[in-house]
Amino acid sequence: MASEPTAVLLTGASGYLGGSLLVYLLHKFDLEFRNVKLFTLVRKAEQVDKVLQLGGNVNPLIGDVQDAERMKNLIIENFVSIVIETVDARQFAVAQPFIEALSVVKERHNVPVHFIHTSGAKMFSSHVGVDQSNFLNDDGEVYSTIAGLDTRHPVMKQFVSLNNQIIDFAEEKGVRSYIVAPPMVYGPGAGFGNKISIQIVALVRVARALGQLFQVDKTDTTWPLMHIDDQVALYATVLSNILQLKAPHGKDGFYFSENGTFSWRSLSLAIVNALRRQIGLDSTHKLLVATDEDLNAMATVLGCDVGMVPVSLAGNCSVHGNNARKLGWAPQHGVGHLMSNVDDEVAYIMKADSTFASKPKS
Ligand SMILES: NC(=O)c1ccc[n+]([C@@H]2O[C@H](COP(=O)([O-])OP(=O)(O)OC[C@H]3O[C@@H](n4cnc5c(N)ncnc54)[C@H](OP(=O)(O)O)[C@@H]3O)[C@@H](O)[C@H]2O)c1
Repeated sequence: MASEPTAVLLTGASGYLGGSLLVYLLHKFDLEFRNVKLFTLVRKAEQVDKVLQLGGNVNPLIGDVQDAERMKNLIIENFVSIVIETVDARQFAVAQPFIEALSVVKERHNVPVHFIHTSGAKMFSSHVGVDQSNFLNDDGEVYSTIAGLDTRHPVMKQFVSLNNQIIDFAEEKGVRSYIVAPPMVYGPGAGFGNKISIQIVALVRVARALGQLFQVDKTDTTWPLMHIDDQVALYATVLSNILQLKAPHGKDGFYFSENGTFSWRSLSLAIVNALRRQIGLDSTHKLLVATDEDLNAMATVLGCDVGMVPVSLAGNCSVHGNNARKLGWAPQHGVGHLMSNVDDEVAYIMKADSTFASKPKS
């Protein structure tokens, strides 16, 4: 007799990460062979059709992750034993009901249950006070390193302990947890909803609005990068190993997705040069160190507090992602790919970015 399928719920189906992962799971993961029943979460009725139009075998569910009771019911009613969360990197209140409901599924059905939380490289960077003189390896002492930090940034100090909190809570509830931490992700998204990322998009928005970019830190700093296709492949590798109960979890379950680092200064220069070629951006000066006035102007463009500009577009993050590689993940795109494709990337972002209805500065 065939065994019951494993029910997996992917949140954020209309998002950049979640939407791209959904397409991968539907068309490249062989859900049938792996005996997986896939559910995906959207929060608007009209997105259900968009999910179904992707083809493949998927069951869309409607709900808001802020509605804890609904999230719990969806998990318990559908016997979901694996949740891949790609909506909210910052709120324990979003992770908590998923973990509680998974715990109920485990108790009632006597199956292992798993929670994959999407975090971000910022949580392991200079912005939270991680020592940058050595690389932080995801198969090393990440949990204790984070637990020992004295984070000073007024915003980041609210979020820095979230990953450890999730690990502790999941352990207490008998749920296996996995922390996936994407860095600056780039490349066209494959989903039906948002197809563009965050940081590289912010650089293009600032350059178009202000006619120039700046070096935000006093000295040049570096950050890890990841192509969206490699990011999606990492989730798939982790999921495949979870299904075989082979993926390290809990305090050993950090998954840094990185394939090298880029320099903020080099990327900013490359973007400005691409915009010169593509829209005649009149930016003749060298990349200057941002003044307070420049930072304020950038904050206005990005719609954020000025203190978050360096967190969004600067800083050092020295992490190595060994865990997924040990499970067979082999990323294909590195800094050479990013830097030699900046023109295409900028052109794609300008086309896909709906925030630029007005004429850019040129
Ligand atoms: N992209 C990156 O480079 C990157 C890097 C590191 C970490 N991250 C983190 O990864 C997560 C996803 O990033 P992303 O780039 O994929 O973001 P995104 O494109 O904005 O996608 C967010 C998704 O979450 C959904 N969502 C938002 N609020 C919701 C709610 N209350 N209930 C249910 N669904 C909700 C959105 O649905 P709607 O379509 O209905 O709005 C959308 O599907 C974020 O936490 C982000 O901080 C991203």
